[in-house]
Amino acid sequence: MLKIEPGTATLGATVTGVDLNHPLSDADHARVVKALGQHGVLCFPRQLIEATALRAFSARFGSLQMISRLADAAEPEVSILSNVVENGRYIGTPDAGQDWHTDMTYNRVAGFVNVLVAKQVPMRDGRPLGATDFANTQAAYDDLPSEVKTGLATATAMHDHNQFQEHMRRKGSQRPPQTESQRRERPPVQHPVFLTHPITGRKVIYVNPGFTTRINELDEAESQQMLDFLFAHVLLPKYRYTHHWTVDDVLIWDHLGTWHCAVADYAPHEYRLMKRCQVLADKIFDPAYLQTTLHVATPENAI
Ligand code: SIN
Repeated sequence: MLKIEPGTATLGATVTGVDLNHPLSDADHARVVKALGQHGVLCFPRQLIEATALRAFSARFGSLQMISRLADAAEPEVSILSNVVENGRYIGTPDAGQDWHTDMTYNRVAGFVNVLVAKQVPMRDGRPLGATDFANTQAAYDDLPSEVKTGLATATAMHDHNQFQEHMRRKGSQRPPQTESQRRERPPVQHPVFLTHPITGRKVIYVNPGFTTRINELDEAESQQMLDFLFAHVLLPKYRYTHHWTVDDVLIWDHLGTWHCAVADYAPHEYRLMKRCQVLADKIFDPAYLQTTLHVATPENAI
């Protein structure tokens, strides 16, 4: 029996009673999707799962994004995040997600779910390192001053992949700069500043420090001031949650209602290895899926 137990923080619930090597029933899948909207981050502990089953579980939520060449040999949609070095090379991306962001808002069809399984967790003095931090953008929206909610009710913002890349490089990442042709392939895209969450129907703050460059309806200085305000607001401690990993945790999180940041507090010899699927927000805005599977209406400002 699938059991969902919410934690006591602003985000997070634990899901037990399932083996993710086997497909969830339609009813259990719908419960998981609804819980994802409600709790933002779901942990399925003790899942002895490999890439093929991880891929199948992830694909129930929507189309999979394939962006990394550092992927599982059998399943190219399962990327590897790791500082493990073999034959002089990292076996995965060593610094993925190491700053606040929401996945793929630089895409016209942005991210919906991240699915990670922990294969190796760095430990020091009996404590796990390499946690993942989260912030709750639904709760943060609720507490915004009403003049901000009204003033930006129909506003849009630009999101650019290159911004995160350049930010990581300034922090010392070995990522190469994007070429002109890479930049042309991924031109900046626009999304609403506030989005109606397709599962909960609540508003979320849908700008993030990683990719959002500009609020279109404000002049440059006002836009920067407003983004700085929104970013500081979302990062207030009351909206924050940290997941400390245990090997064999499968963690899934909802990009539409959260931001996340991988905590880089471990040394090069303290190994961390995650396998990841990134799911796009296509199915979750499909009216038929929302009505027949989740029994909710399509929000007006779908992305
Ligand atoms: C990510 O941003 O997808 C990676 C998160 C993590 O490794 O904790």
